[in-house]
Amino acid sequence: MLTAFFLEASFLGVMLFGWNRVSRKMHFASTLIVAGGTLVSAFWILSVNSWMQTPQGFRMGEHGLLYPTQWLQIIFNPSFPYRFMHMVTAAYLTTAFVVGGIGAYYLWRKLHVSHARVMLGMAMIMAVFVAPFQLVLGDLHGLNTFKHQPAKVAAMEGIWETERGAALKLFGWPDQEQEKTKYAIEIPKLSSLILTHDLDGEVKGLKEWPKDERPPVAWVFWSFRIMVGVGILMILTGVFAVVLFFCKRLFDTRWFQFWCMALTPAGFIAVIAGWCVTEIGRQPYVVQGVIRTAESVSPVAGPHIALSLLAFIVTYLFVFGAGSYYILRLIANGPTPEGEAYGDHGVDEPPLVTDLVSETGGEDV
Ligand code: HEM
Repeated sequence: MLTAFFLEASFLGVMLFGWNRVSRKMHFASTLIVAGGTLVSAFWILSVNSWMQTPQGFRMGEHGLLYPTQWLQIIFNPSFPYRFMHMVTAAYLTTAFVVGGIGAYYLWRKLHVSHARVMLGMAMIMAVFVAPFQLVLGDLHGLNTFKHQPAKVAAMEGIWETERGAALKLFGWPDQEQEKTKYAIEIPKLSSLILTHDLDGEVKGLKEWPKDERPPVAWVFWSFRIMVGVGILMILTGVFAVVLFFCKRLFDTRWFQFWCMALTPAGFIAVIAGWCVTEIGRQPYVVQGVIRTAESVSPVAGPHIALSLLAFIVTYLFVFGAGSYYILRLIANGPTPEGEAYGDHGVDEPPLVTDLVSETGGEDV
């Protein structure tokens, strides 16, 4: 894990700031190393998180302490392969929509046109092939959750009573007090069909679990709809792209450029919504069925927690703010014309980290 972090951190520097300082081959190799390092980090982070959703390979000792008994079972726990594939695909899609959105912005403003066509074109290849693949992965992921965390799925679906031939609620308002989903717009039997592959399959409702074993339903229900909604918009983008490509209008259709610009943050929204489904859906447990969130509260005084939270907020605001500022400046400057290096014919250099640090009042690095 540490190796992966160091690989990412060191070579990200070469990738971001080394374009004019290292050879093309070295730059490409650094990019591959960053991608590889990130995959390794994702592997371990998602393995740990998945274990908290579908724990196995441990024994409970005295005083509620958990001891590992089977490391392979712990690492490759039942939800891990689905979560790993779904999250990594989510990251690629998120990036694709950012690149596509910026490409569309350049085309809209008639800037850096040859680069912009490549950017939009590559993003649309991802939208055409990878967005539908994410739907399939998401479906398989949901089936695995249905097997291991059925209360989470009941919350995603807003289903309270155990029923056969359960309808799919497109929208509605889950009311935790009254134990029903109000104003539901439904498609009959579809939930059973998706979850059990049988029109009359049984889906367990939330009332199967005592009230203090149910997650906050409205959060899970709505986050799920936001994630899937964005997924559908991404698939739709791919469909539009194919149609426009065959009409030879992919790169000069104004409304489509606007659509792609509007979807620039779509991946981030879906990822945050997805994590809300996963983490809020596991409540009231921090390790599903084993440790309750309330039991895992540390015996640390409130003001100490508040102080470390404040330190996190300030650090992240600074790091995130500086990173966003740097990336926005890169976007504003745009790529170099093909075959030219920065500095040729008055092509603006992208900002260097040193510029950034001196502008923000820091020391040279
Ligand atoms: C298109 C239809 C989609 C379906 C059916 C779907 C399905 C699911 C399900 C069932 C979960 C929760 C699993 C669990 O907690 O056990 C989940 C989580 C998640 N989804 Fe989706 N998803 C879809 C689209 C997307 C898209 C487009 C993105 C992002 C670009 C995304 C990102 C995530 C993330 C980051 C999580 C949390 C991590 C995880 O548990 O995998 N999803 N998704």
